[in-house]
Amino acid sequence: MRLSLGGTIDDVEQTLTERYAAPPAWRRWVTTAAVAVVAVVGLGWLAWAAYHESTPRVQSQLVAFHVVDEHSVTARIDVRVASGTTDPSCTVEALADDHSIVGERHFNTLFPSPLTRLRVRTPRLELRLGTDAELRELGRVAVAGIHDPDVMPFEFPWTDDATVESVRDYHRERLGQFSAEDWELGLVVFHRGRPIGIQALGAERFAQRRIVVTGSWLGRAWQGGGLGTEMRAAVLHLAFAGLGANVARSGAIAGNPQSLGVSRKLGYEVVGSHTVSPRGEPLEHTDVELPRDRFRSPVPVELVALEPLLPLFGAS
Ligand SMILES: CC(C)(COP(=O)(O)OP(=O)(O)OC[C@H]1O[C@@H](n2cnc3c(N)ncnc32)[C@H](O)[C@@H]1OP(=O)(O)O)[C@@H](O)C(=O)NCCC(=O)NCCS
Repeated sequence: MRLSLGGTIDDVEQTLTERYAAPPAWRRWVTTAAVAVVAVVGLGWLAWAAYHESTPRVQSQLVAFHVVDEHSVTARIDVRVASGTTDPSCTVEALADDHSIVGERHFNTLFPSPLTRLRVRTPRLELRLGTDAELRELGRVAVAGIHDPDVMPFEFPWTDDATVESVRDYHRERLGQFSAEDWELGLVVFHRGRPIGIQALGAERFAQRRIVVTGSWLGRAWQGGGLGTEMRAAVLHLAFAGLGANVARSGAIAGNPQSLGVSRKLGYEVVGSHTVSPRGEPLEHTDVELPRDRFRSPVPVELVALEPLLPLFGAS
């Protein structure tokens, strides 16, 4: 078979030269420069990655540990945090011989706020700010359920689309906005060492007004056993005896007898009502108030590390 090519031998040579001959000099320079730039960027990234891997922003080392008994271990850990690192937290795990996790503790390696040192204790509860890991655990409690989904007890219906992250982010943001003029202390309620709910205490221009407001919730598994009363009593003691408040305000949307039950037991009086509409429908919200001299805590309450924090609340 013969293949017939059109054109002359010269034409073919010219075409081959165009296709396969060395490119013009400017193209070689551009290619060399591009390869050099890619190489420099690649090597730079490699050097940065190697440096970053070898010097993480948070480093920790177990200094010593002591097995106290069958159920407890003490450990000293050296944690170094690069300056500028925001809100690092640590998790320490105790492992048994078979490497199963038998104990776990979460803690902040930096104090993002001195308020994290505050402790409010009652016989069954400890109230304090949570670490990042604890706020996520609290988020899991919220997502597992706080109330009958058909009834919304909150003025802002946050439980309709709550996630572990949204609960954590809300509390981190509120703490970030804390000022003596307008503060909200979202104390995590710990029962037997684990977060079970929130007892919040807040105020605007506390130095001038001496009025606090409270809000709270517990995971459903912990409701109805008197813990709601105990945690409200704890923050009322903080407000009246610790901060010098004169009046505490609270309230509940119609159809929330537990919240009003707690208020009634602690001596609040109904002072009025107003309309709210968390899901669009108008609902009556009962407003209650408790003056300082009517409050008698039904449980002993211990306040730890409050004194140096008083100016932060406008309470000095
Ligand atoms: C409100 C809340 C924090 C209270 O906590 P709790 O542990 O359930 O409350 P306690 O067990 O301490 O007390 C509740 C009181 O209300 C009473 N109560 C409960 N249901 C009642 C009802 N249907 N009718 C009348 N009283 C009722 C209880 O009997 C109890 O009083 P008692 O000890 O005299 O019997 C908790 O129920 C909760 O998280 N609810 C869902 C979220 C919520 O409503 N938050 C408040 C928004 S304002």
